[in-house]
Amino acid sequence: MKNYSLYILLICIITSCNDLKNNTSVSQKDPGQQIIHSGFDDQISDLMAKMTLKEKIGQMNQYNGFWDATGPSPDKGKSAMKYEHIRNGYVGSMLNIKGGVKQVKAVQKIAVEETRLGIPLIIAFDVIHGFKTIAPIPLAESASWDMETIKKSAQNAAEEAAASGINWTFAPMIDTSRDARWGRVMEGGGEDPFLGSKIAIARVKGFQGEDLSTSNTIAACAKHFAGYGFAEAGREYNTVDVGTSTLNNIIFPPFKAAAEAGVKTFMNSFNELNGIPATGNKYLQREVLKGKWGFDGFVVSDWGSMMEMTAHGHAKDLKQAAEFSIKAGSDMDMESYVYVEHLADLVNEGTVDVSLVDDAVRRILKVKFELGLFEDPYRYCDEEREKAITGKKEFIDDALDMAKKSIVLLKNNNNLLPLKKENQKIALIGALANDKTSPLGNWSLAGEPGSAISVLEGLQQYKGNNLSYAKGADVVVPKSKAAWADEVVVNKTDTSGFVEAIALAKKSDVVVMVLGEHGMQSGEAKSRANIDLPGVQQELLEAVYKVNKNIVLVLTNGRPLAIPWADENIPSIVEAWQLGVQSGNAIAQVLYGDYNPSGKLPMTFPRSVGQVPIYYNHKNTGRPSAENVFWSHYSDEENTPLYPFGYGLSYTTFSYENLKIDTVSDREIKISVDLTNTGEVKGKEVAQLYIHDLFASVTRPVRELKGFELVELEPKETKTVHFTLSEKELGFYDNNEAYVIEPGEFNIYIGGDSGALLQDSFKLKKQSN
Ligand code: BGC
Repeated sequence: MKNYSLYILLICIITSCNDLKNNTSVSQKDPGQQIIHSGFDDQISDLMAKMTLKEKIGQMNQYNGFWDATGPSPDKGKSAMKYEHIRNGYVGSMLNIKGGVKQVKAVQKIAVEETRLGIPLIIAFDVIHGFKTIAPIPLAESASWDMETIKKSAQNAAEEAAASGINWTFAPMIDTSRDARWGRVMEGGGEDPFLGSKIAIARVKGFQGEDLSTSNTIAACAKHFAGYGFAEAGREYNTVDVGTSTLNNIIFPPFKAAAEAGVKTFMNSFNELNGIPATGNKYLQREVLKGKWGFDGFVVSDWGSMMEMTAHGHAKDLKQAAEFSIKAGSDMDMESYVYVEHLADLVNEGTVDVSLVDDAVRRILKVKFELGLFEDPYRYCDEEREKAITGKKEFIDDALDMAKKSIVLLKNNNNLLPLKKENQKIALIGALANDKTSPLGNWSLAGEPGSAISVLEGLQQYKGNNLSYAKGADVVVPKSKAAWADEVVVNKTDTSGFVEAIALAKKSDVVVMVLGEHGMQSGEAKSRANIDLPGVQQELLEAVYKVNKNIVLVLTNGRPLAIPWADENIPSIVEAWQLGVQSGNAIAQVLYGDYNPSGKLPMTFPRSVGQVPIYYNHKNTGRPSAENVFWSHYSDEENTPLYPFGYGLSYTTFSYENLKIDTVSDREIKISVDLTNTGEVKGKEVAQLYIHDLFASVTRPVRELKGFELVELEPKETKTVHFTLSEKELGFYDNNEAYVIEPGEFNIYIGGDSGALLQDSFKLKKQSN
């Protein structure tokens, strides 16, 4: 191991976080409020001068869609009330209007043509992974480590949604999470703040494009601010209690990156953070987001999260919930009804300063102007365009490309994969292999149930083999599948299909088993205390293994699973997540070697649920090794994961050699490594760079990802991969929330996963003067 001394200008530089380059500027009026300036100042001021207090508060009110939008329905309770509210100018936005342009236009028409001031609505939808053309779930896309393709996926989703009348998506979800029990890990970028930040930027840029006012881009929403991914024990909506270091170094970075990338909106979160619900959290929204980071868009609450502050035990009633929310910087109320019902009274009696309302309204109107809604409120409402764009071939092709890039090869002993293309008897087993809805995954609201290519259909396209299918066992009780939004019921008892599956496996050369979670077993409110193969699937796997050991296990799931038995016994394992409409084609192409997998895990896979939270960037502890009798370990389980963060194989092999560190200036470190494809087929590898800051005023993780490169290599080809580490990337947030760069020794590691072994080190020195 060599030591390099770098004379780098530093040290202990405390950088201001407020380094955003915005066209707009922010000036402080009082500690709880900013005045936003933008290119639309005059128009916004003119409009606001005409607005009554109630109309202003109306802009801060968002309702969920109602299904009789094309006409008033005076006797239908809430629908009638919402209709009246829109007509009175008391609604600024609608979410989840289903039915495309026709329905959106009908609602927009009320706002534009029937209200006093004709302010258009902003139309929101959860466009999480594709719109109609469902793409892989975000966790799967993250496994591609391919920012251009991820950006393209968001861009396509935006174009398709925009053609259906939508102009605002509640995405990207960028909650860092280390807990596979939490169902919403399927929506995010995984456990790492560096990778998560790159993904956040790619998705924001994909949705919003270069020009928000064009009719094929939509406003993005960074959610859920903040800490939601750290729900205790992975139980949905549970308490979050994290220290400053975790908050600033692990949870905030993707959000800060999204703000810097120009995301137009933020959504706060359901959880309390260190005792204060995020929705009523002044520190999060005013101090950090709108203050330090200078965010000039608006913040929407999560669904009902304002009113839930009473259940949290924070606000004593709904009126106080409205007061806390506005004071904390929540600009728009999603489905709590507390602004529309209480904010005017709070202002009139002097509890809330009207300037807070003005600030929120300004922010909301600014985004509406930027979307071009004042120029043409129907610009997203062209039925011809909707027909031409929805489900177009380019989206399907791109969904296939994204799906293939998302697949991770976890194990391939004896080169069982790729499958031979001829003269094989192949048994395909598992209910998920013949499922055309589950691969869409959760949050596919506009997708058509049944619109995915199943694995069976994908494999049937390869005609040279003799393919037979047996279900083996249902994953979920069939009737529960019909109710898409409801809790699925896992099949824990019915093994009646085992006999047929075993008989088929017995007479086959290779068995492909598609096992895992149903698409609705992850997502919101889908926490699991056990993260093994649900129901009777483990039993099925072991029963089939008894008669045929040539098994390729294809996993489809929305979170890391604990599958130690499979890892020990099954020769080939492919992680195929939930891959959207092109799922079966992507899986078939990978299994047959027409596509060489290159995905890498964005989350650690544990050996058992008891290890969770398990993550690669952990601290060392005071007793990291067995030198002590009492050391940091389990007596009944390894400390190491089953598959580490960043891990994934290929049909070829790669070698890393010649790690070099060089200094080109006193502000950055240049690192290079030679990467060779040592196998027989062309392949892609994600070369990863990690650092370890050995000693610091606040202890640093044993490894931190600081760079990665996706490299394609022909057989036997070598490329030199270059990384540049800027001085700024070597710092961290201390416990006073200041960004500090401290001198000292750093290890670097390069390789194909977070266990990378190629190692060197350098010293960062104090500036001499
Ligand atoms: C979720 C949000 C989502 C919202 C609107 C909430 O339950 O937490 O992520 O955007 O619903 O559908």
